[in-house]
Amino acid sequence: MSIKAHPPHDLHIPVLLDATLELLKPQKGESYLDLTAGYGGHAEAFLAKTEVQTSATLVDRDEYAIGKLSRFADNGVKLLHTDFVSAATELIEQGKTFDIVMIDLGVSSPQLDQSERGFSFKNSGPLDMRMDRRQELSAEKLVNTAKADELVRIIREYGEESPSQAKRIAAAIVKARPLKTTGELADLIAHEVRGKWGKIHPATRTFQALRIAVNQELQQVESILPLLPKLLKKGGRVGIISFHSLEDRLVKRYFAEQKAAGFEAELQILTKKPLDGATYDVHNPRARSAKLRAAVKI
Ligand SMILES: C[S@@+](CC[C@H](N)C(=O)[O-])C[C@H]1O[C@@H](n2cnc3c(N)ncnc32)[C@H](O)[C@@H]1O
Repeated sequence: MSIKAHPPHDLHIPVLLDATLELLKPQKGESYLDLTAGYGGHAEAFLAKTEVQTSATLVDRDEYAIGKLSRFADNGVKLLHTDFVSAATELIEQGKTFDIVMIDLGVSSPQLDQSERGFSFKNSGPLDMRMDRRQELSAEKLVNTAKADELVRIIREYGEESPSQAKRIAAAIVKARPLKTTGELADLIAHEVRGKWGKIHPATRTFQALRIAVNQELQQVESILPLLPKLLKKGGRVGIISFHSLEDRLVKRYFAEQKAAGFEAELQILTKKPLDGATYDVHNPRARSAKLRAAVKI
């Protein structure tokens, strides 16, 4: 298979691809599970090595990504349009195990670039931010109906804003409701923190926070980790790429628990320290904050 040419907004360059291949060492005949298949960049490279498509499963909760992944289905790859915790639960119930499991967390470039998906404040669009548009909770619903305290908590915890900044932003949101577009929200925040701009746009952290809340991203990561040993064959490898410290902290903690479990450990950690995008993927700007951790099933 070869990567097909897509228009520019479809461009997603897989992050830490060489490092991932080197660590997980896919072999001819091995089975592959991609829990965040996106646009199939990692899948394409792994399946070129394993050479078997029929034992491969690609998961994504984004309908648009699934559409792009349909090129794999023609070759016998199984596609699952659901969140990865539900997919993993289903696969475990079916008794399926894999030689390689890949998780590349976060959003894809196309999700960020398409203004109608509402992830970006650079290109204004409806306040949406749902990776899976079948779900009820959107950013618009959250922003316009959450209590001020809940907004403060979200902006503090998931955006890692200071308590005073989080309170200021939440109060401004509550006062300005209803908000409809990402542009309106970004302007409101920029106005609120006027004169206090650092290196990043003042809305960056709030947008990250809302996205994490809308998609329950940290709950998903926390729930998938203990399922990984059940999805792996003995000697099977898992790679996890995270993009911010909140995600990486959960992976790091789980791996540390495995290490501390001694004879009861199910995974052996392959990365004493994570491989970071700034060192191992210097040409991809998206990889700058990426961290790759990997483990093997004992
Ligand atoms: C960074 S992109 C993956 C890109 C992919 N590795 C590639 O090379 O094309 C992350 C993808 O994971 C999906 N995703 C994120 N969290 C998910 C979850 N909890 N369940 C299923 N899919 C998820 C997103 O919809 C997005 O398409």
